Formats: sequence, C-alpha cells, structure tokens
Amino acid sequence: MYRTHTCGDLRISDNNKNVTLAGWVQTVRKFGSITFVDLRDRYGITQLLFSENLNAALDANPLGREYVLQVKGTVNERSSKNANIPTGEIEITVTEFKILNKSAVPPFTIQDDTDGGDDIRMKYRFLDLRRNAVKKNLELRYSINRSARNYLHANNFMDIETPFLIKSTPEGARDFVVPSRMNPGQFYALPQSPQTFKQLLMVSGYDRYYQIVKCFRDEDLRADRQPEFTQIDCEMAFVEQEDIINMFEGLVKHIFKDVKGIDYTDFVDRMTWEDAMWQYGNDKPDIRFDMKVCNLKKPATVFTDKKDNADLINGVDFKVFDEAETVVAIAVPGCSEYSRKQTDELTEWVKRPQIGMKGMVFIKANADGTFKSSVDKFYSEDKLKAIADAASAKAGDLILILAGAEERTRKAISDLRMYMAERLGLRRDDEFKLLWVIDFPLFEYDEEGNRWVARHHPFTAPKPDHINIMINNDPAIKDATKYLEHPYANIKANAYDMVLNGNEVGGGSIRIYQRELQEKMFAALGMDAEEQQHKFGFLLGAFEYGAPPHGGIAFGFDRLCAIIGGSEGIRDFIAFPKNNSGRDVMLDAPATIDDRQFAELQIKLDLKD
Ligand code: AMO
Repeated sequence: MYRTHTCGDLRISDNNKNVTLAGWVQTVRKFGSITFVDLRDRYGITQLLFSENLNAALDANPLGREYVLQVKGTVNERSSKNANIPTGEIEITVTEFKILNKSAVPPFTIQDDTDGGDDIRMKYRFLDLRRNAVKKNLELRYSINRSARNYLHANNFMDIETPFLIKSTPEGARDFVVPSRMNPGQFYALPQSPQTFKQLLMVSGYDRYYQIVKCFRDEDLRADRQPEFTQIDCEMAFVEQEDIINMFEGLVKHIFKDVKGIDYTDFVDRMTWEDAMWQYGNDKPDIRFDMKVCNLKKPATVFTDKKDNADLINGVDFKVFDEAETVVAIAVPGCSEYSRKQTDELTEWVKRPQIGMKGMVFIKANADGTFKSSVDKFYSEDKLKAIADAASAKAGDLILILAGAEERTRKAISDLRMYMAERLGLRRDDEFKLLWVIDFPLFEYDEEGNRWVARHHPFTAPKPDHINIMINNDPAIKDATKYLEHPYANIKANAYDMVLNGNEVGGGSIRIYQRELQEKMFAALGMDAEEQQHKFGFLLGAFEYGAPPHGGIAFGFDRLCAIIGGSEGIRDFIAFPKNNSGRDVMLDAPATIDDRQFAELQIKLDLKD
C-alpha cells in the first residue's frame, strides 16, 4: 500500500498512529541534526520530521524539491504549531523513507506566490497545476459542474452528447475545420455550439436536454475568451421566454448556494437592451454600482426614441459639443477634488487608441455647492449645475463628459465608467449581481456588407408581436444610410442574456420552429433558396415533421467559474488553456503535419510567404 492517509488527513486526534504517506517534497529545511520536510499532495501539506538517526540515509539519498517521496512514521504533536493549515498541530516522525521518483529542479516555485511568469507557467502547466491557486480554481470548476448537473438532473434534463465533426454552425465566429481523409477536399467543421443538434433533439421529443460541452470558435482572444471553451448548453420544448428565465435563474441560484453558500434570494433584475445601451452604453452592464450614463446629446437616428438633454449644452457656441454626434456624461462619486494631474491622467486614458476619444470635459460639483469645469469659458455656473443635476451628481462628485461619434462615444463612456469603478474599488469580486438583459433587436445592420445579420443567431425567433413585421416586409434595404427607418430595425428578438458583474455569462432565445419563418429569416440574412438548402436543409426538413415550440440557453461555463472564483480571466479556470495567440505552449500546438499526412489528405500546402 502506497499510503494510509493523504497529506491533508491527519489531526491531533491521530496522535501516535503509525501511518504511511506519499506525496511531493515542497521544502526541505535542515536545523542542526534534524530535517523538516513539507510533504504535499492534492489534499494538503504535512510536516515530516527526520531525526538524527536518518541522517546517513538522507546523505545517501538526498531529497530535492518536487521529489516523489513515501514515508512511514508516527503522528506526533508538534512543538511549534501552525494555525494556518489544518494539519498544523501534528508532524510525522519518520522511521523509514523511500524516494519513489526524483525530480529535476522545477523552473518556478510551486507555491501560492510563485516566481514563475505566465509563459513559463503555461509551458510547464503540469507543474503549475500543482499550485494551490490553480488547484482551488479547478476544484471550484468541478463543484459548479456537479451542482449544475444535480439541478438539471433533478429537473428532468437529460445529458445527450452531440458530435464534434459536423458542418458549420453559425454563431458569428470562424470555424475550425478538420480535413476528411476519406472524402478528399472536404472538411468537417468543429461546432461553435451544439445549437442545431439541440434543436433537432427537441424535434425528436427529448424535451429537456443539457450538455456540458466543448465549443470551438476561431476568433480573436481576450481574457474572457478561448478558442475552445465549455458551455452548459440547455434546451427545452413547450416553453416561453418566462419559463426559460425562471428555470435558469433557478440554476444559477442553485450554484451560488451550493458552491458559495450564498442565498441569492434577490429577484434578478431585468433590463431591456435599449435601457442597457442608453443608461450604461453597453449591453452587459455591471450593476454593482450606479454611475448611470446621462445622455446629453444623441443623433436623431439612434436606436431609441428616448429624449436627450441637448438643451442643456446647446446655445453657447462650444464647438466640441455642437459638432459631436453624441455627448454623454457620468458622475463619478466623491472625486470632485481630483487634482489637475489626475484629470489630465483621465484625459490621456480616454485618448488612448483603444478608447479613441479626442478629449474629455469635466465638471467638479464641489462639496461647498459651487461648480468648476474645464469649459468655464462657455458655461455659466448655472448651466454647469443643470448639467450636473441631469447627470444625478451629488456635491463632491466629478462629472466626466465625452463627445464624438455615436458608437465609439457610447462604448468609451461605458469603458470609462468601468475604469472609474475599478479605480474606486466599486467592482468588488466578492459581490455578485445578476441581471437579465432582454428585448434585443433581432437584426443588426452590417454597413460594409449592406445587409442584415442576426444579432444572436439565425434560429432566434422574433417577439410574437413582431413576427408579422418580418413576414410582411421585404428585407431589402435601398438606402443604407437610412437602415434604422427600415421595419426590420424595430423587430425585437425573443432573446435574453444573463449578465453577472458586467460579464455575459449566458445567452439564449426562443427559437423559430416553423419552416416558413425560418426560410424568411435565412432570406433576410441574404441566403437564397439553394444556399439555405445546402447549409440548413436538414433543419428546414426537420421542421416539417412536428417541431414543437422550443427555446434554450447556453452558459459560458469557464466564465461562470472565473467570476464566481473572483476573476475575469478564464485561463486559470481551465486545466490546459491556450495562450493569447491561441497556442498551447506546452504541446507547441498548432504545428505542421507530416508530408505523409498531407498526401493522405490529398492537401497541397502552398503558403504565400
Ligand atoms: P453564445 O454565442 O451567446 O450562444 O454563447 C453562450 C455563452 O458562451 C460564452 N462564450 C465564450 N466563453 C469563452 N470563450 C469564448 N470564445 C466564448 N464565446 C462564448 C459566453 C456566452 O454567453 N447556441 C447559443 C446559445 C443558445 O442560443 O442557446 C450560443 O452559443 O458566456
């Protein structure tokens, strides 16, 4: 038997027991004639005491960091106890030891505060995974996985696997493709999600399906994106939006209770897409803090007919505002005493290419009730006060104003809001605020391609009241500059996103289940009958054989784990992630393949430079 206990098991109640442990050597400390070793495994760390009588054996078989060691010995109470670890009251007085395997000197220390940089830790990911920091993330991931499965199982969902070697599923990214040896010149696509399969399962009558499943998307990577990632993918038949929202609000609350002990009893807020964009400049607002956007000016053609506050800024001949399409402001709490240096810093921040603003205007709502601004030349104190009031500023707040082109400016104010919240410590990672964003537009307009694209995916149904707008209107757009006037711009989708602390953790929709409407949708996206048949003939065909009304959702499992774990980067919640260029640096993949493989696949490589 290699071990009687793990390195996390033993307590003072085990005093005097004879035990055998096995694990990795974390540290070796020599004190005169005795040697202390910290032995580590997945379960914890236990201190070993090698007395003088083992010195000769230790000299002959010296221990090094990360050696795999087996020891026999007796549990004893420690003289100096360590209250920080569960085994801290005891140590093992070693009677025999055996080195099961040696280790090369590890390239970084296997400790919570490692000295290893990102690249080296990724290259030696198997060592990084020994560290507590990463291990606790994987443990959390497993608990969330179990918790989700328990909830879904209890609610009659059935886990059904769907294939990975398939044909393109449109989720808006590029496909990863796999050449077929038996069908030269033809390729499978890896699923961007199991979307069409889960819908076919509804047609087959498996009315509650789920799968914790890998998805593959060839897209630009960010902290919250990986080329292969995992979804908790779900679909239900005979449901309306409200049924889905209730079921999956239940899932997330169940997970919070199970893994964090949090009774998330609050009603989960709901916000329309229009309100989210208007009040936060963003369709996944972080509502842990306020700082809502004040719309001082918006173009007449913008996504909403809500009124702006243009009368507050017009009429003083301030060109920056007069010439801008959009002017938006936020009131940052308690920052009216920012120095010149600090406001300059913020101006530089918004001028960075990632944000792309030409400058920033500020108004200080001073604690004594006076107002001071960077545009005093143009605005009287009364006018400054009116703008500050519109932005819901209190005495002591700093109002930051951005002006420019609509889309960019709205995004910039949203980024600035998040940045300020981060600076002020308002984005606490132990506070969780869920939000449903609903009523998304069904279509988005692609100006370059002069065509409609599906905002979610082409299987999403319009709101029931909007189906007729879709059926009765021709999708063709004659004047691209006036696309907002086209009836299709007003069609809302029966779609919903779940947002957690400003991150989209899930998204789904009620689906189209009638062939005619699905064909109309494909046509609106620019697919002629032939292309529809070629790409989605199987689905259109299935809709003719008794497709029930259905809908579903998919959660980004990695994201959910990361945020619950207090981070927005998903890499450390994935055992073997890719780096930012999509590479697995441990395997050194992707890599070229043998000439023989190219020959078998009948592929000729002709790389231009
Ligand atoms: P969607 O494309 O919104 O919907 O994806 C669902 C959720 O998956 C997560 N996600 C990602 N996580 C990590 N890396 C990525 N590259 C990545 N891309 C997406 C997000 C997102 O909310 N089939 C539909 C779902 C449905 O309609 O039921 C779908 O895939 O958290």
